[in-house]
Amino acid sequence: MRNLSLLLPYLRRYRGLIALGMFIAAVSTGFSTIPPYLLGMAVDQLRGGGFQVSLLLRYSLLIVAATLADGALKFGMRQLVGRSAYFIEYDLRNDLFRQLLRLDQNFYSANHTGDLMTRATNDLSAVRQMLGPGINSIVTATLTFIIVAVLMLQIDVQLGLITLLLLPTISATFVIVGKRMRQRFRHVQDQFGRISTRAQENFSGIRTIKAYAQEEAEMHTFNAANREYQRLNLRYVLLAGLVWPLMTLLLSLTVAIVLLVGGQAVAEGRFTLGEFVRFNSYLALLTWPMIALGWTVTLIQQGSASMGRISDVLKHKPAVQSTLSAPTRPAIQGEIELRNVGVRYGETWVLHNISFQVPRGSSVAIVGSTGAGKTTLVNLLGRVLDPTEGQVCIDGVDVRDWPLDQLRSQIGFVPQDTFLFSVPLRDNVTFGRPDASQDEIDEALLVSQLINDVPQFPQGIDTLLGERGVTLSGGQKQRTAIARAVLRDPSILVLDDSMSSVDTHTAAEILKNLKRVMRDRTSIVIAQRIATVKDADRIFVLHHGEIVEQGTHAELVQHNGRYAAMYRRELLRAELEENES
Ligand SMILES: Nc1ncnc2c1ncn2[C@@H]1O[C@H](COP(=O)(O)OP(=O)(O)O)[C@@H](O)[C@H]1O
Ligand SMILES: [Mg+2]
Repeated sequence: MRNLSLLLPYLRRYRGLIALGMFIAAVSTGFSTIPPYLLGMAVDQLRGGGFQVSLLLRYSLLIVAATLADGALKFGMRQLVGRSAYFIEYDLRNDLFRQLLRLDQNFYSANHTGDLMTRATNDLSAVRQMLGPGINSIVTATLTFIIVAVLMLQIDVQLGLITLLLLPTISATFVIVGKRMRQRFRHVQDQFGRISTRAQENFSGIRTIKAYAQEEAEMHTFNAANREYQRLNLRYVLLAGLVWPLMTLLLSLTVAIVLLVGGQAVAEGRFTLGEFVRFNSYLALLTWPMIALGWTVTLIQQGSASMGRISDVLKHKPAVQSTLSAPTRPAIQGEIELRNVGVRYGETWVLHNISFQVPRGSSVAIVGSTGAGKTTLVNLLGRVLDPTEGQVCIDGVDVRDWPLDQLRSQIGFVPQDTFLFSVPLRDNVTFGRPDASQDEIDEALLVSQLINDVPQFPQGIDTLLGERGVTLSGGQKQRTAIARAVLRDPSILVLDDSMSSVDTHTAAEILKNLKRVMRDRTSIVIAQRIATVKDADRIFVLHHGEIVEQGTHAELVQHNGRYAAMYRRELLRAELEENES
């Protein structure tokens, strides 16, 4: 039920529609009690010897009229409530998507894409099912129960009480069985999330799977997961299938008892045969609501389990949050300072005691082997994560005191693994700057050295990329990502190993261009190859999370330490490659 309270704000938004729906439901329920009443009257008149065809015809027509009115009103009510359910589903889906966009990388490493997709699809529709059909039948059932209860008690208090005490056992049975059903349904949904994740990863990684001839092995793992899904579903279906027969049994027991007690009462003359017929019609009228109520319990159990899974996401607090009180500051100039920064993932420290200052307008390079902590270091600038200890300052202000969107909009970040959307190349480049002019785009393409590749694509810059378009080479992808970042005209530009697939000559060209456009701003380049970064104003050598050397290229070569050794190895490799070709 706590899960459901999260729906209140959404329900409140459409309370007008829902209230109108309920009002109509009440009127329609009133109409539905008319036919039994007419039937009872007809029977009594027949017994009184007043047989007339015209009279029977009149009763029949009235019954049809009442049923028509009831049906029309119920239709109206379903429309109203059903619509609100779709409106709420729409709102929830948007809120979920907005929240998913807000959440940080830690969340995404802890939650698989397939599982999140399940929440955004299956779980959302379970919630809608609960709200639409669920509310419909709960309202109709409750109203019918109340009105019919009064009418039954009017006929005979004893028989009425017996019936009204017996009927709720059906609902009670449902509540008990339903609790188990909800647990099992949650297991089913969780497993479905795991299956989706598995399938999604297989499709994305299909090339790797084929290259390693792992189709059979993957099929085997998938089969196991699929079988588990089947097992959990069967467990669920077992309970769900038990519910209906159980209910029919309880209902016919009730009918039998009513016949026993009521028949005796008629014989004793406590009420007429017509009234007994009326009573039985009322009982029949209650049958469907009682069944519906049971079904609704299931819908609500599922809906609330699903709402729980959705609200897990909605309530998740992003690890990095913008300081609410952060005042808007003047544009970022680009001076960076790290003071005794340390970062720990779990128990392992990956950066220790890092302090350095980068004056505005300079270019900095970071070199170091894989796992040295380079990515972690630059992630601190745009607050992809916050340091465990120490302080990161931009223009002398702690990054945590900058408004998050201002901070990020001024830092151009080209990540290690570039991501391009399946949209035209142009839209990939203008991502984040949809208003960019053609001149600005051309300039960005020139800086990133993509300009000469563009004419080779079938529709030039408007060529569609991705699954239904052309596939770029690794180097082209990286240069597109660089163009994207350059177009944003950032105060600080970070290239995280974003030229690994670009040849040395082009990489040097790109850096030369960057030096020109980033003249008054700060750029940080992480690279594997020293050749690409040796013109940087300052080079940091990162090793096991510590800065072990720093200086200009000449100084570091002179120093003859780790950097000089790396450089020598690189020269040797280049020489060998040259000899080979
Ligand atoms: N999200 C994370 N959770 C736990 N450990 C991480 C995470 N990201 C990186 N690491 C670890 O931190 C170390 C530094 O990683 P990283 O900054 O990516 O290095 P580099 O970019 O120099 O290759 C590595 O040992 C890596 O395994
Ligand atoms: Mg890295």
